Amino acid sequence: MKFPPGFKFGAGTSAYQIEGAWNASDKGISIWDNALHNDPNLVSDGTTGDVACNSYHLWKEDIHIAHELGLHFYRFSISWTRILPTGFPNKISKDGINYYNKLIDGLLRKGIEPVITLQHFDLPLSIQNLGGWTNPLIADWFADYAGVVFSNYADRVKTWITINEPHMVCDLVYNFAILVPIVTEPWLGPFLCNKNVLMAHAKAWRIYDENYKQKYHGKVSIANNPIWLEAKTEDDEDLAELAREFGVGRFSDPIYSEEGGWPPAIEKLMIDYSKKQGFPYSRLPLFTEEEKKLIKGTYDYYSLIYYTSRLVRPAHEGEEPGPWFINGSKELNVILETDPRWPITDSSYILINPEGIRRQITWITRRYKNVSILITENGLGTKSAELHDTARIRFIQDHLQQILLAIKEDGANVVGYTVWSLMDNFEWIFGQTLRFGLYHIDFTDPLRKRTPRASAHYYKSIIKHHSLDVPHPSQVTRELRHSNAGSSKFSLCTLIGLITLGKLVSNSL
Ligand code: NOJ
Repeated sequence: MKFPPGFKFGAGTSAYQIEGAWNASDKGISIWDNALHNDPNLVSDGTTGDVACNSYHLWKEDIHIAHELGLHFYRFSISWTRILPTGFPNKISKDGINYYNKLIDGLLRKGIEPVITLQHFDLPLSIQNLGGWTNPLIADWFADYAGVVFSNYADRVKTWITINEPHMVCDLVYNFAILVPIVTEPWLGPFLCNKNVLMAHAKAWRIYDENYKQKYHGKVSIANNPIWLEAKTEDDEDLAELAREFGVGRFSDPIYSEEGGWPPAIEKLMIDYSKKQGFPYSRLPLFTEEEKKLIKGTYDYYSLIYYTSRLVRPAHEGEEPGPWFINGSKELNVILETDPRWPITDSSYILINPEGIRRQITWITRRYKNVSILITENGLGTKSAELHDTARIRFIQDHLQQILLAIKEDGANVVGYTVWSLMDNFEWIFGQTLRFGLYHIDFTDPLRKRTPRASAHYYKSIIKHHSLDVPHPSQVTRELRHSNAGSSKFSLCTLIGLITLGKLVSNSL
């Protein structure tokens, strides 16, 4: 149950989801600011990130709770338009730079390592107006932005993530249009975006590598978020592997494989399929040799985000696969299904399969030569705001158990784990209705009071003992319920138990 020495525990957030202060000082407009001001119906409860957790003003509170938990690192993102109000490097915001300086220094003073994501969904509107991730020039615009950020913070920040969840940014956006920018363009959208994201990442990685690596010894990666794809039956194994290459492989092989470039089977499949559809070129844009070389090897670790899994099977005759990556793929003629044994959650596409994280880790380990892996997100979203969040505790415990198995049984080099999220925040199209926090946020309180949940207590204890072998708050709750069941004192005893547990939680934090 012990984690390897040096294994690090953290928690994560992102700028738009927590900062608020959308127009403070000279901050520019992001695509989320713009979309939600123009169409509040995009979000289920009509909320926006205008104030969110108000972390722009309450950043000291965030450091305080991160410290209470005993986090080794805190993953947060930088708002591109807070640093570069126009999206471009013609103007650098002093206040923007200063805000993250205060946060970084404050964390370091408490012994917490800052882990920074450069781009977490909140693209500058100016760049979206020029086509966003489908315009190849974005690679240079992103590199310019990355250069400014590195030049200000690389002396203190050693772990970097260039782009968050390219799978969402490209495949989910252009196939489903349920994230901003609300653009459906499944023909070329996902694939142009795929290539441009990789080029942008590679250029930023090279800027760090050439200018800062030798001096500061930091690490840079891109945060991939594959859904683990399990073959439905033994006969579907080859198809499942092809689907993995189409999913995680398209975003990883060009960076991590020895040969570079798209997974060969996928490149061929897309050339043939595009031809059949009447395209005179592949919908998956091919790399030149130079581009392949530019992207290949641009990693220092693998940043892995894991939430859920799907089963893969071939589409039956007459069955139309839905768009990749939640329902299936027309290109592969596959259907993605859920397994009835995986518990459903309040987050519509997330079903719980902790074994999936182990399988995904070992897949990456085998394919990319035992690369070191940092789990940069994993967590449970609930509609309930309750403080005694036993389901979240269970989720974290079960996933950490599988990570330990991946390390100890499969020889994977997993170096750390990040709970999503440090606190409840603005959960994109679900607004404030879906809560992922170790800390509860009172969104009705102007001070956005942060209150630890039972899961915060549990996580703190794991960090402290560097082990999963720790007292389990949910167990205490369950035992209390059990031992008092049937007795007339049941509710009172349970209540006392819960109050004691509550005190334990708040005292120890
Ligand atoms: C992944 C995203 O990076 C994050 O922004 C989001 O809140 C969580 N998943 C939960 O959906």
